Amino acid sequence: MSIFELPIKDELKDTSMKLKNRYTITAALPYTNGPIHIGHLAGVYVPADIFSRYLRQKDKDVAFICGSDEHGVAIPMRAKKEGKEPQAIIDTYDKMIRESFERFGITFDNYSRTSRAIHHETASEFFKELHEKGVFEEQVSEQLYDEQAQQFLADRFVTGTCPKCESPEAYGDQCEKCGTSLNATDLINPTSTLSGSKPSLKKTKHWFLPLNNFEGFLKDWILEEHKEDWKPNVYGQCKSWIDDGLKPRAVTRDLDWGIPVPAQYEGTQKVLYVWFEAPIGYISSTKEWAEREGKDWQPYWKDEKTELVHFIGKDNIVFHCIIFPSILKAKGDYILPTQVPANEFLNLEGQKLSTSKNWAVWLHEYLEEFEGMQDVLRYALTANAPETKDNDFTWKDFQARNNNELVAIFGNFVNRVVVLMHKYYDGSVPEVQELNAHELEILAQLKDFPSKIESSLNRYRFREALGELMNLARFGNKYLADAEPWKRIKTEPDQVAQIMYTAIQIVGALAVLSEPFLPFTSAKLKGILGLEHTQIHWNEVAQESQLIKSGTRLNENQLLFRKIEDSEIEKQLEKLNNTKLENASEQNQTAIAEIKPTIKFDDFSKLDLRVGHIISAEKMPKADKLLVLQVDLGIEKRTVVSGIAQHFEPSEIVGKQVTLVANLAPRKLRGVESQGMILMTENAKGELVFVNPDQDDIPAGSDIT
Ligand code: 2FM
Ligand code: ZN
Repeated sequence: MSIFELPIKDELKDTSMKLKNRYTITAALPYTNGPIHIGHLAGVYVPADIFSRYLRQKDKDVAFICGSDEHGVAIPMRAKKEGKEPQAIIDTYDKMIRESFERFGITFDNYSRTSRAIHHETASEFFKELHEKGVFEEQVSEQLYDEQAQQFLADRFVTGTCPKCESPEAYGDQCEKCGTSLNATDLINPTSTLSGSKPSLKKTKHWFLPLNNFEGFLKDWILEEHKEDWKPNVYGQCKSWIDDGLKPRAVTRDLDWGIPVPAQYEGTQKVLYVWFEAPIGYISSTKEWAEREGKDWQPYWKDEKTELVHFIGKDNIVFHCIIFPSILKAKGDYILPTQVPANEFLNLEGQKLSTSKNWAVWLHEYLEEFEGMQDVLRYALTANAPETKDNDFTWKDFQARNNNELVAIFGNFVNRVVVLMHKYYDGSVPEVQELNAHELEILAQLKDFPSKIESSLNRYRFREALGELMNLARFGNKYLADAEPWKRIKTEPDQVAQIMYTAIQIVGALAVLSEPFLPFTSAKLKGILGLEHTQIHWNEVAQESQLIKSGTRLNENQLLFRKIEDSEIEKQLEKLNNTKLENASEQNQTAIAEIKPTIKFDDFSKLDLRVGHIISAEKMPKADKLLVLQVDLGIEKRTVVSGIAQHFEPSEIVGKQVTLVANLAPRKLRGVESQGMILMTENAKGELVFVNPDQDDIPAGSDIT
């Protein structure tokens, strides 16, 4: 068979048929209260970008929409902490976030801000219309009020005990320990974080969205229609919300930061609840884009033939699957999301990512430390994406993915082909008339890869899709290693021309198919192949018999990836370690007790402090905190009852040197007389440690003065 007779893959035609033509892809609007980190990238923006790039390659009409969420309560909170105006905070982080997205190649068609007029207008319109339609219920309810600060408290400004898991540090809107979404009035023992006082309840009128009225609609639409095609984590969360019974949710707040409730309804300082207006931000951002591009925004939100997909993290599921769809449904003539591929969370070195604890890899810092290596992070985050469960990012894994996969497989294959092409053919793809059966078979197999990758992408399985892309690089590597052109170039030049022709087709396929995942690498590779100005479409990989034509002149070779050294990883780990120490010492500082009132020297000299040696230790029966110790004081032995049983095993402290207050009046604990007290303190991690002379061979009984 000649190379021009390779069949077009039928499966591919099938999958493209299944795709709709117009897509509105949204990515969660980030709060502008801090920079963004790898958790945001892995959970939302990289998968959304991969999907949008892929759809564009498939010639779909895509609006990839995002923007800054500038009304979160965390913003005035951060402003207060930094002694700045909220406006200064949102401007700083909006700029920073935009830059990070751009530099990581996130190809939003529009990135707006919820502070812009177009959004204020759109959100106010939504509120007005729903109000006029009688969708909202007005309720006078009791809300937490801080008498000292003279204001109602936003949920985030209240902490207390979680009614579900009893964690004492739950916020008024959510318990970060168990993930339960809360109302501030649900908290047990609430405290205002503004003044530290106990808030009172005060009456205030608000508009509520009666979610209970939407139960039937949500049951049909989610529990029935999307039973099969939504991810189990998303479906499961929705089901549990619906099964628990939906309650009316306030869509207004007594705050001075946000979009004012339209004046005809309320003259006082009430604003739209941020979770009412932020998702409407997707619509405002689409309008802004359409206006700029001279398009009509409406089909992107109203045409049944449009596929609406929300990329979010799991903490946003209820807002995107229950609340926003109810708002859209109430408004009428809007489409509902067809998919909400929410991800779970990414941890960092075993600990939850945290902006306030600085436990993160910040994108702006990564870009400085690993210059030009955006794709490596995109790769590591996708390969390890928290698609079905929480996952851990470790620097060791990052290094291994780079060195053992990108460098050793992808980069190595491309490099060998390009080097040989320059060496044997002066950089020009050789002419071949006919191909051997083996080469034809390889090219036929190559044409299976686009549909394999697509099938994963169409099911939002980005890790799996990336795995298939790497399999293509492995396939190329193996083909070249088996064919050994370097051993045959002298004796079988015709065979080698076929091999190199075939190998460069695989390189070409990699350049096209890697674009959604590794856009910078794909661009570099196209540059090497001299294709920087040629548009090759995804489908051509399976359809074209000559993706890289004979006679194509390659440009100079460049390395696609570089090895990451151990020292670079150690530096990152050290940085995290320093963060840990800083956090621990901050915690300690807040726990440090005040200095007690002054005493006279005489008072001090009354204390008899001695070095002792623990000679035996046992658990006190029926007391889980107490150990009974025998301490050798040289001249005598003492029994000491110490409350350290939860920190030490008896066996690990026998033989230990300690400092004992030897003249403390004895007292009975659980019937055992304790004849002294051992001095202890806490280390930075809050663990108990013995206070001791700094040598451990001091004779028992030595006095300490
Ligand atoms: O959780 C967050 O970071 C929110 N700012 C996401 C908002 S998404 C959308 F609805 F606006
Ligand atoms: Zn909880």
